[in-house]
Amino acid sequence: MTGENKTRVAAIADIHIAETDKGKWVEFFTDVSKNADVLVICGDLTDTGDESEAHILVDELKSCSIPVVGVLGNHDHEKNRHKLIRQIVQNHPNVHILDGEAVVIAGIGFAGVKGFGGGFDNHMLSMFGEGAMKAFVQEAVEEALHLDRALARLDQDHNNIKKIALMHYSPIKETVLGEPEQIFPFLGSSRLAEPLLRRNVEVAFHGHAHIGVLEGSIAGKVKVFNVAKHVLKKSGYARPYFIYEI
Ligand SMILES: [Fe+2]
Ligand SMILES: [Fe+2]
Repeated sequence: MTGENKTRVAAIADIHIAETDKGKWVEFFTDVSKNADVLVICGDLTDTGDESEAHILVDELKSCSIPVVGVLGNHDHEKNRHKLIRQIVQNHPNVHILDGEAVVIAGIGFAGVKGFGGGFDNHMLSMFGEGAMKAFVQEAVEEALHLDRALARLDQDHNNIKKIALMHYSPIKETVLGEPEQIFPFLGSSRLAEPLLRRNVEVAFHGHAHIGVLEGSIAGKVKVFNVAKHVLKKSGYARPYFIYEI
């Protein structure tokens, strides 16, 4: 906690833990534990979606003494072992991996989903045409629904709780700018933005767009940060985490 009773939330995404990363994250987790009260990790915990990488992450997390809230990313799904990865990482007593769920830490509500693509604003894909296209859109619709439910649960169970949302995919176009425009539909979906706005979320964190930009907002009301490790580095953060005080 800071002097004004605020909680320092550190956020990062796209850590892509690989076989060669043994011991390389100890310094990061030690440092972030000194400078924040909660750590948020927005997906792509592993590089190739292999459970061996999840085991390495759990080992590295031994140096982390603050609670960790995370979501999985598309890389964690690559080998269809995402359930196992979630299990392994959650075995650490201080780690919560959210997939349409919420958790309250230090009086703050955290809701998390992976999210999905589909594009933004007027160029958002609609439920039309081939079955495969509809299935693609349906995935985004469901992820937005799960996010909404997780946020609703926080509101039901806690009066006037401050809410933070985490997802891997972006809810807005603004924070993926810099990526090739051709791949915007695969970087996020505006469908994720609607529940964030309606449920008065204070801040949303995401990753996935490695060459996007750090800061954006939904209608000037919900702050959105792309905390992909690569974006933080490019934005001049010597330590690769972003601190938000709430
Ligand atoms: Fe990534
Ligand atoms: Fe990703």
